[in-house]
Amino acid sequence: MRDDTVIHALDTLLDRTVVPGYSRIGFQLRARSWRRNDPPADGLLGRTAMVTGANSGIGKAVATRLAALGASTVLAVRDLDRGERARREIRAAVTAADIRLVHCDVAEPDSIDACAQTLRDELPTLDILVHNAGVLPAERTENSAGHELTLATHILGPLRLIDRLTPLLTAAGDARTVFVASGGMYTQPLPADDPEYQEGPYRGATAYARTKRMQVAFTPLLDQLLADHGASVHSMHPGWVDTPGIATALPRFGSALRPVLRTPDQGADTAVWLAATRQLPMAGHFWHDRQIRDEHYVRYTRYPEEQLLALWDYCLTAAGVTVAHSPREN
Ligand SMILES: NC(=O)c1ccc[n+]([C@@H]2O[C@H](COP(=O)([O-])OP(=O)(O)OC[C@H]3O[C@@H](n4cnc5c(N)ncnc54)[C@H](OP(=O)(O)O)[C@@H]3O)[C@@H](O)[C@H]2O)c1
Repeated sequence: MRDDTVIHALDTLLDRTVVPGYSRIGFQLRARSWRRNDPPADGLLGRTAMVTGANSGIGKAVATRLAALGASTVLAVRDLDRGERARREIRAAVTAADIRLVHCDVAEPDSIDACAQTLRDELPTLDILVHNAGVLPAERTENSAGHELTLATHILGPLRLIDRLTPLLTAAGDARTVFVASGGMYTQPLPADDPEYQEGPYRGATAYARTKRMQVAFTPLLDQLLADHGASVHSMHPGWVDTPGIATALPRFGSALRPVLRTPDQGADTAVWLAATRQLPMAGHFWHDRQIRDEHYVRYTRYPEEQLLALWDYCLTAAGVTVAHSPREN
């Protein structure tokens, strides 16, 4: 067998066996074949990137790596003190990093609009937009517009942000948008009949996995929508990563697997690669460790196209998307 055949077989085996694949073991094995495929040093000089939830965990690691590749990097955070701390840490790690801080609570429509207005006033283009902010709530809560929190944070906020930033993405010419989704989505189908999680007892992990499923399912639709603006959309999952979020939301899982959890930098790798690799990765797909991955492991998570499009229409309306049009109308 040739080397690349062996590597491909090993990679698929790691993916299907989940625990080794999602842990640092999978990362370390796969990363051996990546060196020739790394984004070029200084490859993002002259580019501008924005990362939501950039003050912590994977988001901070993504922002650090993008800044190290030369991007002017905007940290979009809901707490400016935590954001300022992250900015100082990134500047300490990356000499001459150009880091800007902007307030953005991605679950709140007014905050998104204010953030987008600031960026439209201050930036000529936005080349990279990483939707990283994520939550796994203990109880069902709603944002100020009455939308369930994981839906607001993972779906409605990012859709609205893209919509309001479309002029900057268009001006970039080849902007890339990346969703940090989750392998948790493999456990859930689309919540087509109950997008706001109003039925049945609320479980934060289920709400989280459903909305991560939606991020992945919407990726090709968004990509189609933004293609007219010269932009592409990608989603990825980082594996299991040792972050403040894991420690708080899933403490037993986090401490049981701590020895094999990925570092935030390892978890950030595929998001950074999708944003920065010289050749545009195939758009509209779901990636993990620099490979396109299946979107389903089990049959019950599959859905008919009509369900997807009905949910998509619901979300575009709930997000207050104004610029974009449903792909079916194009
Ligand atoms: N860690 C893992 O193993 C893992 C696995 C799969 C996917 N992911 C995904 O990776 C992403 C980052 O998670 P993480 O593990 O790095 O967790 P984390 O350390 O808790 O980071 C989450 C970040 O999102 C921010 N955030 C949450 N709600 C926000 C909002 N409404 N507006 C703006 N920012 C908000 C948080 O801000 P505050 O500091 O203000 O709370 C924090 O900066 C998430 O999307 C998560 O679903 C993580």
